Amino acid sequence: MRIDPWSSAQYENYSRLRKKFGIKEFGTGEWGSLPDVPHLFRRGIVFGHRDFHLIKNAIDEKKPWALLTGLMPSGRMHLGHKIVIDQIIYYQSVGADIFIAVADIEAYATRGYSLGEAKKLAIEEYITNYIALGLKPCRIYFQSKNTDVKDLGYLLGKKTNWSEVTAIYGFNGSTNMAHVLSPLVQCGDILHVQMEKYGGVRPTLVPVGVDQDPHIRFSRGIASAHRLFNVMVAKDGRVGVFIKSDDGVNKLMDIAEEVAGNFGLAMKRMDKYKAVYLENADEADLGKIDLALAEREQEEGAYGFIPPSSTYHRFMTGLTGGKMSSSKPESAIFLTDTPEEAKKKIMSAKTGGAVSLAEQKKCGGKPDECVVYELFLYHLMKDDGELEEIYNKCKSGEQMCGNCKKHAVELISIFLEDLNEKRESAKEKIKDYVDL
Ligand code: TRP
Ligand code: SF4
Repeated sequence: MRIDPWSSAQYENYSRLRKKFGIKEFGTGEWGSLPDVPHLFRRGIVFGHRDFHLIKNAIDEKKPWALLTGLMPSGRMHLGHKIVIDQIIYYQSVGADIFIAVADIEAYATRGYSLGEAKKLAIEEYITNYIALGLKPCRIYFQSKNTDVKDLGYLLGKKTNWSEVTAIYGFNGSTNMAHVLSPLVQCGDILHVQMEKYGGVRPTLVPVGVDQDPHIRFSRGIASAHRLFNVMVAKDGRVGVFIKSDDGVNKLMDIAEEVAGNFGLAMKRMDKYKAVYLENADEADLGKIDLALAEREQEEGAYGFIPPSSTYHRFMTGLTGGKMSSSKPESAIFLTDTPEEAKKKIMSAKTGGAVSLAEQKKCGGKPDECVVYELFLYHLMKDDGELEEIYNKCKSGEQMCGNCKKHAVELISIFLEDLNEKRESAKEKIKDYVDL
């Protein structure tokens, strides 16, 4: 099994996917003590992560951290796309330094858009909606215009090769070269925020749909491959700082000893193994030592990027079953739909209702298989208690689909009208977010 970020595959079994790719479960242990936990976390919509503890620690300790994610300008923006932006807005409220890449090169290379079309769509459709939804000023940029990102992608490419990218992405002899390079551009997106010019080494979160995990694995691997030090738990259970290269080992050992020494843990320098071992270091120490070493690496002129953390969210089911997709307008509610358009789509949506009213009264409906329920769950119902009531009334056969749909229509109409109004003023603010 391989995840192809450019396919339109649907994902059924998220926990299997998690286990297969070594993604950790995103549970209360990760986010429980955050302020104002978003409904997307509480409801398991964001279901997996890598290294989220680095972000959590930064938030807790009020240390700097960055968030970078990307948008692919292709098609109109729908409710599925809103899931990421809701998270970004939350993270902005708890202190993230936000960057958003407009993946115009990727849209050009893989979807057949011209850069001009991608730009227009990104501005009129995506960025306008982001601002209307409540995103505060942050750094939004176009891949094609950001020389630092492109250069970095190119240079980082030294530590990967054709075997690796074909294994991860399934490229073959006829894949066009712009497409082949697009993962490196995305790597540039993800890691450039840790360049000195963009704020330096710091924990970086990339919140994405699970289809993007290949890019996350790729970027994490490349970040590690360019490091001078490797901090890890050795076979005997101790934490070790290992020197990766064979050049300048003495100097690097001195640096390792000096940096590790600042953590006040007992340590032992073992030149033979090119390692400095630390006693009693826990996971939090490990992250901190790695960060401190990465900072020193940058001072020495190396990249010194710490591997990005990530979270993964589920995808919404399309209103007609199947995938929610911009290319199937009846499957998606677009953020620019009128309430009437949304109503039409909801009224003909696929529910988890029984074959007849009598049957439904008797046996109840299946909210877990209902796209109308998904609308409440993902977007329309912020209050957990009210959501639970909908769930229970459906299950018990108290609530029929007709009324339930009407309720969803009412809520979505309010949302769409409000957003439409906000879009008007958003248009004037675009220049505060992006260089045009
Ligand atoms: N590949 C992403 C998509 O298809 C867009 C993207 C580009 C991105 N650069 C990124 C996502 C960096 C996360 C981080 O939607
Ligand atoms: Fe879905 Fe509502 Fe019908 Fe239950 S009652 S199946 S939640 S539309």
